Amino acid sequence: MARKKLLLGNWKMNKTPSEAKEFALGCGDMIRFAVDNGIDVGVAPTFVCLQTVVENAPKDLIIAAQNCNEHDHGAYTGEISIPMLKEIGINWVILGHSERRTYNGETSVACNAKIKALLAASMTPVYCCGETLETFEAGETKSFVKKQIEEGFAGLTAEEAKKVVVAYEPIWAIGTGKNATKEIAEDTIASIRSVLKALFGEAAEEIRILYGGSVKPNNIAEYMSEKDIDGALVGGASLALDSYRGLIENLVK
Ligand code: 13P
Repeated sequence: MARKKLLLGNWKMNKTPSEAKEFALGCGDMIRFAVDNGIDVGVAPTFVCLQTVVENAPKDLIIAAQNCNEHDHGAYTGEISIPMLKEIGINWVILGHSERRTYNGETSVACNAKIKALLAASMTPVYCCGETLETFEAGETKSFVKKQIEEGFAGLTAEEAKKVVVAYEPIWAIGTGKNATKEIAEDTIASIRSVLKALFGEAAEEIRILYGGSVKPNNIAEYMSEKDIDGALVGGASLALDSYRGLIENLVK
């Protein structure tokens, strides 16, 4: 089964609501171009910008939050729940980004609870994994990422697993300009798919796996030529309209 290509922009802690609104109002043509070319495209603004992007962007733009809490409500100061996101029209959430793992103590086990809560709410989790430079240089990438995948997907059925998007982002490639070669990205992503195959059988062929880490308009096409890479999770290059358009145009080539 052909997996639909996906481009997701992770805005991280960038853009005020008025800046996010400007992007939302300006992205109409490129979103139409993406849809016409059969690809899914989205952005992940900060919580305070979600509503303005929902209200001002074309309906085909996927809008993702950058985190959520697994509880519906309660005494969790500073947290945002899934029903809150749903009510403002958000159906996708990024989980386990390496920055949240590093700065906020997010673990794969914690992500597993969030993945289950999102699936129960018919929402789409984008589960991030990836190794440090030290792990990469020690040649331990595959075993490290395998553990992240097994813990994140624990207890899911094959039907549920199909609905999760995975993003492989080597930490050494994030924001450094040192993107992984397409061969390295494909090698790890193929190994992730084989871990998913061991867990879920043929359903693994339907799970979309993205590469992330210094993806730019001038290198995105390389990744798309690899058989297991289904798109990209992009930070810096997703912020400006021109650059986002460049990503879409080169992704569909
Ligand atoms: P950059 O594209 O800025 O390297 O960021 C990648 C990333 O972390 C996306 O989630």
